[in-house]
Amino acid sequence: MPPADQLEGVRVAGALESWGYGQDRALLLAGLLHDVGKSRAAGGARYRMAITLMEAFSPGLLQRIIRRDGDVATLWRHAEIGAEMTRHSLPADSVRLIRDHHKDAGGDERLRALQEADALF
Ligand SMILES: [Fe+2]
Repeated sequence: MPPADQLEGVRVAGALESWGYGQDRALLLAGLLHDVGKSRAAGGARYRMAITLMEAFSPGLLQRIIRRDGDVATLWRHAEIGAEMTRHSLPADSVRLIRDHHKDAGGDERLRALQEADALF
């Protein structure tokens, strides 16, 4: 993982711990590694910024680019890719949280906490 993603993971896990989830090992592991799937894409911060802007202002353009550019597609699918990367090494619940960390949390309090911690950094 790039150092910036490692630092973000530590910060997310730290926020979760400070919110009372310090004993929830599966959630803390998901916090540490939630963006591990991004490590499979080149391009780094440039792509991420472009994806964020296109997602907000031109989702149709983003979808067209995703179909043509493997690195953008990898970043777009990083949660699913991260779940695949960790499925043999992390608890199943951590893998689920990594896979779903950009999906609607619904009534899942732990997933919502992960998303709220992720949004801080
Ligand atoms: Fe993410």
